[in-house]
Amino acid sequence: MMNGYPLEGPDAMDVVWSTKYSTGIQLIDEQHKELFSEVNLLRRSIQEGADREAIGRLLETIVDLSAQHFATEETFMSQYGYPDLIQHVAEHTSMLTSLQELHAKFLESHHTIALMVPTFMEGWLKHHISDGDFGFVTFLKARGLA
Ligand SMILES: [Fe+2]
Ligand SMILES: [Fe+2]
Repeated sequence: MMNGYPLEGPDAMDVVWSTKYSTGIQLIDEQHKELFSEVNLLRRSIQEGADREAIGRLLETIVDLSAQHFATEETFMSQYGYPDLIQHVAEHTSMLTSLQELHAKFLESHHTIALMVPTFMEGWLKHHISDGDFGFVTFLKARGLA
């Protein structure tokens, strides 16, 4: 399997975006969906024996997309004075640090270490969206801002 091809049908291990993760803010939903799909691509690539370079590129993409996504949310939150901004930013910082640590481990050891990334990402995609992101989205919507 090559990096960059469109995902075909879902497989049993995929993390699947569904409307329960929908915030109704288009940019944020698109970023979440892209993260789900890159995470699936990474896991499948490792399982199908992609080379180290391809896996490294996917990892970098996931780190970059996560950083961009967190920055997008933090801009929304600070722009509209979201009261739990500090807590939410702390969660982002901690997730990004963990991702960067996994990336660093990948660089210094066998490439199957990269399999820890989909497991880690699955946790944050599912829980952080439901428990964290919905908090500020509800705040924005209640004020007619989103
Ligand atoms: Fe998010
Ligand atoms: Fe978030």
